[in-house]
Amino acid sequence: MSKLLPVTRAAYRAQQATIRLSLLAAHLGLRPFLGRRRRPSERDLHELRQRLRDLLERDVDNVARGLYSRELLFSLPVREYLSGLPQLAVEVARMLGRARRGQVRDLPPDVELGAYPEYFRRNFHWQTDGYLSRRSAELYDLGVEFLFLGTADVMRRQAVAPIARELQSQTSGRRVLDVACGTGRLLYQLERALPWHHFTGVDLSPYYIAKARGLLAGRGVTLATANAEALPFADASFEVVTSVFLFHELPLRARKHVLSEMRRVLVDGGLVVIEDAAQLSDSPSLEVFLENFGREMNEPFFFDYLRWDLERELGEAGFTVESTTPAFLSKVVVARATRAAERPTPPPI
Ligand SMILES: C[S@@+](CC[C@H](N)C(=O)[O-])C[C@H]1O[C@@H](n2cnc3c(N)ncnc32)[C@H](O)[C@@H]1O
Repeated sequence: MSKLLPVTRAAYRAQQATIRLSLLAAHLGLRPFLGRRRRPSERDLHELRQRLRDLLERDVDNVARGLYSRELLFSLPVREYLSGLPQLAVEVARMLGRARRGQVRDLPPDVELGAYPEYFRRNFHWQTDGYLSRRSAELYDLGVEFLFLGTADVMRRQAVAPIARELQSQTSGRRVLDVACGTGRLLYQLERALPWHHFTGVDLSPYYIAKARGLLAGRGVTLATANAEALPFADASFEVVTSVFLFHELPLRARKHVLSEMRRVLVDGGLVVIEDAAQLSDSPSLEVFLENFGREMNEPFFFDYLRWDLERELGEAGFTVESTTPAFLSKVVVARATRAAERPTPPPI
């Protein structure tokens, strides 16, 4: 492993500690307004802190191993986020009000909701407009950094490492698809780590795709609005398919459809990298935190997801699981396409 300058490690730790401490103060201020939550034990907290330390160490180790550049460790658009803070403060107040009133489907009146699956038509994380407005797309990245104490992009970046391991030595351009790419943060990091490969992203929200287009302008990334349950690509169109933080927001049937579609568009022997919330089977010590998240954040499929077996389902969908790596509150599962997937029944929209 090449040495990473101690000054880089120190600067990175300082950056993360500053972000975390400032956000922690805001979280503590909000605690009285949140509903009843299970209190974690000292042991739970110890485990959580350890997982956070491991995440940050792995992030810099990935740079030392040459999987991505040092630049990515410092790539949060801090100035943009700082200027978004007043808007975020207004948003948090609106979210708390919506949570108090139990308004799970407070969506914009001018959107043709019938065009979207029922499970999608809600305010995940209580966010204003759900995924269905420009404003929501503008605030999303800052909102999730706030929610996860400045670790959202760090967690997301852990999906870059196995893809870099797979593609770094491939000199001819390979095709990579990010399913439910949101505002494009993973694609941004992937494109910087592996600029000679070809990246495509799809998301069901046209507003999030528009935001991703802004972030990725001039980078040669293809973006499209599409349902992950019916991907608009021919069979075997990609060598790598990835997805970050999607599955916990889907009901069981949709999760199965998406896995099947991921297999269909992958070449035989291709790689799938899925990052999502840790599950109880691999991270029982996080139960209290994961369940509090599901209870508080208008995530109706989260409890079922926690007890679902992603690795086993990957096996059933035509993949062989190669590894599962914890990444703080999430995990990264890497699997290879081994046998043909069965075509899913088209989803009713
Ligand atoms: C929690 S966000 C994760 C976004 C992004 N991957 C990230 O790393 O932040 C979930 C995303 O999944 C998208 N989504 C939900 N259901 C979808 C579906 N059936 N097809 C495509 N995208 C979907 C939402 O629009 C949203 O952008």
